[in-house]
Amino acid sequence: MANTAPRKIGVLTSGGDAPGMNAAVRSVVRTALNAGMEVVGIYSGYSGLVANKMGSFTASSVANIIQRGGTVLKSGRCPEFLKADVRALAANNLRNAGIEGLVTIGGDGTFNGAHTLFVEHGIQVVGVPGTIDNDIFGTEETIGFDTAINTALEAIDRIRDTAASHDRLFIVEVMGRDSGFIAIDVGVAGGAEEVFIPENLANVDQAIQSIKRGMARGKSSSILVAAEGQKQGRAYDLAEQIRRKAGFEAKVCVLGHIQRGGPPSARDRILASRLGFAAVRALQQGLSDIMVGVQAGQVVPVSLQECTTKKRRVPNELIELAQLLSH
Ligand code: F6P
Repeated sequence: MANTAPRKIGVLTSGGDAPGMNAAVRSVVRTALNAGMEVVGIYSGYSGLVANKMGSFTASSVANIIQRGGTVLKSGRCPEFLKADVRALAANNLRNAGIEGLVTIGGDGTFNGAHTLFVEHGIQVVGVPGTIDNDIFGTEETIGFDTAINTALEAIDRIRDTAASHDRLFIVEVMGRDSGFIAIDVGVAGGAEEVFIPENLANVDQAIQSIKRGMARGKSSSILVAAEGQKQGRAYDLAEQIRRKAGFEAKVCVLGHIQRGGPPSARDRILASRLGFAAVRALQQGLSDIMVGVQAGQVVPVSLQECTTKKRRVPNELIELAQLLSH
């Protein structure tokens, strides 16, 4: 716990960008200004912090951004931040700028960085979960997830039209390096025959069985959804395996970074506004080394230690539902 509320705070976005990050930045900035704090925007995530890329933010710095995808603060991954001397430089830059509290918006890599800044240098930090992957322990939803699944779903609906017209099999690859939240939700909502998630819901033989079962009841087109996992373009490997094992030709559509862009949904804007507000309130209350997340619809503090060491798993109920409804 910090003894007093910070007089000046910094805000940064880090990791993969997510629709709604701008709404979160806007909320942080305006809540803090309303509470009489000064606000500094730190550009390009931790790399910008290390390179001292920052500037004073006013209410108008965040005007007209709530509806914009991406992040006006820019983002990036910063592998150098794994080094202690680089983190020490970052902490020094914060102190020299008079920044007494830091809001970090991002995913688990972002929170690892924030946690170490607190542990090693006593920086007051609060995390806001922003990633399209929805894979942060301690929150039911992350900023950007709702927009991303709706973007992917729109694509699947379009693909279904052409798949049906040509009696084709499609594999649609969605994002999700380590987790299958996007794939499973999009699979259920898009009526996919099978969903491949990094946690390994379906294997190729099982997918082939599903396709054959569909054909037996007169289906002439099918959609499989696959999370990209560790390799973007993994869907091409799956298509090749299906061709070799069963002789079915599959068309592949990799949605890729399309899922990370575009205007945030209303749900993401509201979530981001709530969490940005809560992050500043938490700093005012002297809380640190926490993320503000949503549990049972309420905004709650969760320790960063917990968020970064525990894994959020795709609920079995959804996995079973995806399988059952495809039959
Ligand atoms: O931000 C999360 C994420 O979009 C993952 O779903 C995806 O696997 C990864 O980032 C891609 O990252 P990058 O844009 O750095 O290649």
